[in-house]
Amino acid sequence: MSSAPSGSPAPSDLFRQPVIAAPMAGGASNPRLAAAVSEAGGLGFLAAGYKTTDGMYQEIKQIRGLTSRPFGVNLFMPQPRISDPSAVEVYRQQLAGESTWYDTPLGDPESGRDDGYEAKLAILRDDPVPVVSFTFGCPAPEVLASFARAGTYTVVTVTTPDEAQAARWAGADAVCVQGIEAGGHQGTHRDDPAADGTGIGLLTLIALVRDAVDLPVIATGGLMRGSQIAAVLAAGASAAQLGTAFLVCPESGANPLHKQAMTNPLFVRTELTRAFTGRPARGLVNRFLREHGPYAPAAYPEVHHLTTGLRKAAAQAGDPQGMALWAGQGHRMARALPAADLVDTLVAEWQHTAWQGSEPPEAAERNTAWQDQEDPAGDGGPAGTGRTAAVGGREDS
Ligand SMILES: Cc1cc2nc3c(=O)[nH]c(=O)nc-3n(C[C@H](O)[C@H](O)[C@H](O)COP(=O)(O)O)c2cc1C
Repeated sequence: MSSAPSGSPAPSDLFRQPVIAAPMAGGASNPRLAAAVSEAGGLGFLAAGYKTTDGMYQEIKQIRGLTSRPFGVNLFMPQPRISDPSAVEVYRQQLAGESTWYDTPLGDPESGRDDGYEAKLAILRDDPVPVVSFTFGCPAPEVLASFARAGTYTVVTVTTPDEAQAARWAGADAVCVQGIEAGGHQGTHRDDPAADGTGIGLLTLIALVRDAVDLPVIATGGLMRGSQIAAVLAAGASAAQLGTAFLVCPESGANPLHKQAMTNPLFVRTELTRAFTGRPARGLVNRFLREHGPYAPAAYPEVHHLTTGLRKAAAQAGDPQGMALWAGQGHRMARALPAADLVDTLVAEWQHTAWQGSEPPEAAERNTAWQDQEDPAGDGGPAGTGRTAAVGGREDS
């Protein structure tokens, strides 16, 4: 593997194992989950999306009380208005039956579209955290430069090589390459209905992005097993980011019905849908998605605001058929392990795959910085990946 590009620091000090718990807004990511992953040698993330600025700050204070290891905070980029107001009004009328069924009024679609971006930036600049990542767009170069001055490592989610080039141009330290397999929202920089159905699978996207930019790659989408982590590292990623796999951990704050649905044989398929938020997001196919997905408009965050109350009411009523059950394509492989055990298991599986057929080097060698991509041993590394993987145990063990 080639070394990290000049001028772009590799995320060397951020984690001992190349396993990142994806930021998951809506409750799944919380300080307990993120701290457990960071303590286990991976990198935990807080999700600031949908939170108040104070809510974000309180979570940062909490995680600092739980771990001294690095962690990340993820922000939603403000969204331009792309919707036709009359399409939102039509969708509001189409959801009237849901409002009656759940005995809950629909929300105000104009409840805000910037997710408190500027205020959250101000907090993160005043009191820097180790990593900040962005989704739904690319921040201005000045914003990324200000984080660089503060010593914060920045990551921009991308779903195409063009978006990766935009992130490179703006000065991001790394890109989070999100395949079409991913659970939750696609982090596309612009929601373009004309691009529906053109999403790229993770392994192909990693190769395309690596051809386009010389930034470290964090791979995400559908990763549930260490063998898949081995595959994305072999393809050139510096780390793997997993959402659905961590969503079911006991520390995750996801609704228990959401966790159970991942392996419930009632839910066999996932689909990208605008039904819940107006922006394509992958979830388990349930009644709400089936009924409203076909005509839901491209109108984020208006549709998110419209349906928030309905989704809460469905959860309170114990009805997963009305909830947004975000899930990646690998959901059936979810294992409800404590987060630290899941990190250990994933690392063991990754090593097993990567070192098949060759002797792992001694522990001392293995503890060299895993992202040193020069292959000093000259042996091509595990299974021809060219990696000198850090496979040391947890620091506390
Ligand atoms: C419940 C849920 C919430 C998510 N929320 C966010 C978020 O707030 N910010 C973000 O950048 N990505 C979010 N994602 C996407 C993840 O960062 C990641 O790309 C995705 O989970 C990877 O696919 P996987 O779930 O198959 O591992 C979310 C995913 C899920 C499943």
